[in-house]
Amino acid sequence: MSATVNVNGRITGDRDAVVSVFDHGLLYGEGIYETLRTYHGRPFLYARHMRRLRNSARMINLSLPFSDADMASGIQETMAAANLGGGEAYIRVLVTRGVGDLTYDLKATPVPSVIIIVKTQVDPAPEAYHVGVGVVIVDVVRNHPGTVNPMIKSNNLLNSALAAQEAIRRGAFEGIMRNYRGELSECTTANLFIVKDGAALTPPLTSGLLPGITREFIFDMGREIGVAVHEVVLHDDDLFSADEAFLTSTTREAVPIVTVDDRPIGDGRPGPVTGALLAAFRRHAKADAMSA
Ligand SMILES: Cc1ncc(COP(=O)(O)O)c(C=O)c1O
Repeated sequence: MSATVNVNGRITGDRDAVVSVFDHGLLYGEGIYETLRTYHGRPFLYARHMRRLRNSARMINLSLPFSDADMASGIQETMAAANLGGGEAYIRVLVTRGVGDLTYDLKATPVPSVIIIVKTQVDPAPEAYHVGVGVVIVDVVRNHPGTVNPMIKSNNLLNSALAAQEAIRRGAFEGIMRNYRGELSECTTANLFIVKDGAALTPPLTSGLLPGITREFIFDMGREIGVAVHEVVLHDDDLFSADEAFLTSTTREAVPIVTVDDRPIGDGRPGPVTGALLAAFRRHAKADAMSA
């Protein structure tokens, strides 16, 4: 691993990046984060990521001690120190409750810890897009929104980690999680779409999932290229009878899913609607980066 890290304004290499063992991010998993990436060196959809970070913060009663412009400067400084030599950056922004005594009382942690991790963005292998990927439906159930709400992009990632580890054990690219009602919710680190009769369908936020920034942008891309994109409650049968399926995330854009639990989706090849949405997404990502 090679990364450049900014911990409360102090920028170092990964080996020298330290936080206190009394940070409540470590002790209690109390914190929130965002993952961004650059195109042509510029963080993509920055304002949307900051909007979601502020929403996550609000949902855990955490006040963020910086403006969007302050955070942009911190990211720029960390990226400059990382000197990625023209490569694109993976950027992870974390804000924890901060350092304090061993109590859940918020008075113990008046100052949040702010961490920025920058490393080289590693894209999925080209085959993931050309051939598609195989995923599985995992047994681990997505957090009930009344417990740790999946709307919060939280550092408390045990639910996702256990689900992802199940998917890895089963040799899959990703794991699809159901919610407590048995509806499909999302993948362990990505959102889920199916394509049926030309329309792209994705579970609604009421199915208990993270409102992905890429997911949101797919709605914009659909409007632009004339593909209907709707939120619909989905079950296993909808997935297995879909014409196409794909997953979306910041670091992976839109990846075609061609098998689920070793059963082919559609004709078992990446489909045209997925391809058109991905192409539109990439056109925008590159153009927005160039128009700075
Ligand atoms: C659980 C979960 N769902 C969805 C996503 C995709 O979100 P985004 O498109 O904002 O990267 C992620 C990203 O890490 C995630 O962890």
